[in-house]
Amino acid sequence: MNVQFQRHDGTSAKEIVDELINVYAEVYNIPPYADDPFFSVDSFSDRLHAAFSMTGFETVTARLDNALIGYVHGVTLTADKPWWNSLGDQRPEALQQAAEERQIFWLRELMVLPQHTNRGLGRQLHDTMIAGRAETTTTLTCIIDNQPAHDAYLRWGYTLMGQIKHAPESPVYDAMYLPSH
Ligand SMILES: CC(C)(COP(=O)(O)OP(=O)(O)OC[C@H]1O[C@@H](n2cnc3c(N)ncnc32)[C@H](O)[C@@H]1OP(=O)(O)O)[C@@H](O)C(=O)NCCC(=O)NCCS
Repeated sequence: MNVQFQRHDGTSAKEIVDELINVYAEVYNIPPYADDPFFSVDSFSDRLHAAFSMTGFETVTARLDNALIGYVHGVTLTADKPWWNSLGDQRPEALQQAAEERQIFWLRELMVLPQHTNRGLGRQLHDTMIAGRAETTTTLTCIIDNQPAHDAYLRWGYTLMGQIKHAPESPVYDAMYLPSH
């Protein structure tokens, strides 16, 4: 499979926003996400548009025959994020300090179209993204019931910190970190 990977900053990602949203719509059109307003395409679109202008926004896309088949995106974590602070002392002290110094990459979304999963693309997107980041650590949050992704992150070396919610109406997520660089 001749998959092309490409990095985009916020400005360049805006030009492909419709493609990014269409992939989300297809990936998340399954239970338990499909009927949950927190995971609606409109909610995602709002979150994505807001992310474009956050510090350090970047996406890595995967294309096959020019069609977008998956991507990962994230931003530089700022120490004021409510979900991050809600972890309190469950975060190692060094990580609390790293966040103050803008040394943590917050990997926000990783997705691959269902017809292309389980061929290593998710891992390649993840590894390509963090290999090109300047931060010393990566953090992410994963729904506790999302077993395939959750288990994969632990196999990839992530350490659990504690549980968080992104909003009162969101599911519970496990927060994890990877001292990657
Ligand atoms: C999670 C996701 C990005 C993985 O993409 P992918 O292209 O299948 O990733 P990979 O092929 O690199 O597989 C990743 C790992 O999961 C395993 N895996 C893949 N599909 C699986 C499945 N259906 N059940 C169990 N394990 C699975 C692979 O064996 C692999 O394990 P390894 O890296 O330890 O060998 C993709 O399934 C997806 O888009 N899911 C929906 C969105 C989502 O849940 N995103 C993560 C949010 S935290």
